[in-house]
Amino acid sequence: MESSLPDLEAILLVGGRGTRLHPLTLGTPKPLLPTAGVPFLAHQLARARAAGVRRIVFATSYKAAMFEPVFGDGAELGLSLEYMTEETPLGTGGAIRNAAQALGSGPSDPVLVLNGDVLSGHDIGEQVRLHLARRAAVTLHLTEVEDPARFGCVPTDDDGRVTAFLEKTPNPVTNRINAGCYVFTRSVIDQIPRDEVVSVERETFPGLIESGQPVLGYATRTYWLDVGTPAAFVQGSRDLVLGRLESPALPGPTGEFLALPGSSVSPEAKVRDGTSVCAGATVDAGATVSGSVLCEGAVVEGGAVVTDSVLGRGARVRTGAVVSDAVLGDGAVVGPGNELRAGVRVWPGVELPERSIRYSSDA
Ligand code: GTP
Repeated sequence: MESSLPDLEAILLVGGRGTRLHPLTLGTPKPLLPTAGVPFLAHQLARARAAGVRRIVFATSYKAAMFEPVFGDGAELGLSLEYMTEETPLGTGGAIRNAAQALGSGPSDPVLVLNGDVLSGHDIGEQVRLHLARRAAVTLHLTEVEDPARFGCVPTDDDGRVTAFLEKTPNPVTNRINAGCYVFTRSVIDQIPRDEVVSVERETFPGLIESGQPVLGYATRTYWLDVGTPAAFVQGSRDLVLGRLESPALPGPTGEFLALPGSSVSPEAKVRDGTSVCAGATVDAGATVSGSVLCEGAVVEGGAVVTDSVLGRGARVRTGAVVSDAVLGDGAVVGPGNELRAGVRVWPGVELPERSIRYSSDA
């Protein structure tokens, strides 16, 4: 990616509780969940690095202490990383304000802000260059989606200026939505109240528009996915493994599936559709696994079928069980004969006993 953005600084919002991804996020914050074999954030960090970002401040809150042991000072990634923690969550705006204390940027410098749960193929450098050329207060990445009624939408005028932040409605006026990647002029961040709970989406951006400050939209139709739900999370991991979004952070060559060193996949198992198998995870002969994420130590026994699902650390699907579009918490066990489908979630450590169907004539 071309880059003329030396020393660009960024803030990464990673303090949310990730409740829509329960029970996976009970033990691991969403940005650290294994996605195509590496913590989700590794993909974002690599793309930011490729766009010219060199210094990133993590805005942490929920399970804040878990981030630094994974990414350290960032030297291995060619980045300099800082960690700023909110004692109590301050919302997206409050988090940006708090993290900005660790920035070195001057008042007129651009600062990139990224939601820590978005996979995006857009050109970050182009977004920053638009921001600088137009001397905007904030430049928002907008993505065009087919089903805008599921989101709040963000209309712009002919000049690309954002005119409103509209709540979810059955008849949205545009198919452009907030994609969770912003370029702020540093002095605008400094206007956000300090140590207060503030939402950029509900307070900061509407306030800037109302006061006539230039808030720009940078609209694209490139790959974009918010991985906040289980279905989106497995889709993101699958898309990375299948190469639908390029990521410099992929841990090795991929094909139909990705098996990390230390995993065990039987040649007599069917593993496909972008499945990733983490270290210590096992797929036995005769098992079928499609489009799924198997976290460390997860096991799929022979004859079991796992589709579009996430198996938490040490979770086990026993012979003959079927798990489809489901989430198993860490250490959960699905006994033989069970069929879990359509959004079922099994809490960590829960064991579903063997199920056999006995008809009265069998008795
Ligand atoms: P849900 O609980 O499932 O809605 O997920 P979430 O907590 O991640 O919320 P949401 O998807 O709305 O958050 C968007 C981004 O902002 C995510 O990257 C969150 O980690 C981050 N975020 C949300 N609230 C806070 C906060 O209070 N502090 C910090 N530091 N980050 C936050």
